[in-house]
Amino acid sequence: MNISPNTKLVGLIGHPVEHSLSPKLHNSLYKKYNLDYVYLAFDIAPDDVGKALEAFKVLGFKGFNVTIPHKERVMWFLDWLDTEAAIIGAVNTVKVENGKLIGYNTDGMGFVDSLKRRGIALKDTVALVLGAGGAARAICVYLLKEGVKELYIYNRTRERAIELIKHLERFFSGVCLNYLTKENIKEVQPDLVVNTTPVGMWPHTQLMPVEDYAFLPGMIVVDIIYNPIETAFLRKARQAGCMAINGLDMLVGQAIKAIEIWTGLKVDYDEAISILIEGDKFLL
Ligand code: ATR
Repeated sequence: MNISPNTKLVGLIGHPVEHSLSPKLHNSLYKKYNLDYVYLAFDIAPDDVGKALEAFKVLGFKGFNVTIPHKERVMWFLDWLDTEAAIIGAVNTVKVENGKLIGYNTDGMGFVDSLKRRGIALKDTVALVLGAGGAARAICVYLLKEGVKELYIYNRTRERAIELIKHLERFFSGVCLNYLTKENIKEVQPDLVVNTTPVGMWPHTQLMPVEDYAFLPGMIVVDIIYNPIETAFLRKARQAGCMAINGLDMLVGQAIKAIEIWTGLKVDYDEAISILIEGDKFLL
């Protein structure tokens, strides 16, 4: 890395940030693509978010990512919000342009882009999302934007799923949106299944978000968990003949989108994944 007075600054705010993979991911890509940028991580207490944003403006940052627990609070301080980020109600990427702060949510964008890159068309498909938290919300908004015709949500806490469905219904009409229970999950045969819960994440790698899920050959199954690379749920899907996509897709997809927003450069997706897995071995 060759830092000079011209090097542009980008970064991350969160609390904590010490385990974030983003600095390594971004800085490896900047090096690979000869982008004169450096990505730094800042542990910012919730009460200091506004001050941190002012500091970024003064210091000439080009943009920054936002992670837990600031994805909602950061919206108070922005000058403009991308439409989907507004519907999702959370921002994970901010661009600083002419002293103004513009908020985006690249989680859902990256998710959908990674499917498109694999030639998967979402229009008129049936999707099942497991979980109803922040990640599910971002993914659902983009699935609906892409024209999914039936969207089912399964969640441990019924009320949270119902709340998400009601929220989505306000913005997307003509779509079948439904809550599924453990009992009736078998009645739906989706084209796409997405696990957005942390169930199966290290160290509880034997757990699955739905036990005995009836995978069918040809289904596309995505798990947004990347540690382990292949969750028990995903392994079972792959063994049943599904197309199994791990959490690296979304991790890399959201970073690629942020880089595009800040620099205008479109990073090649497969190359980015291979740099991370083979070159850095940071996940192994
Ligand atoms: P994120 O921003 O990563 O989506 P979140 O907003 O906390 O995180 O949402 C986590 C999701 O995973 C929720 O749908 C949560 O279910 P509840 O609404 O019932 O809390 C789900 N989840 C978390 N731990 C779970 C577990 N052990 N079993 C089943 N679902 C779980």
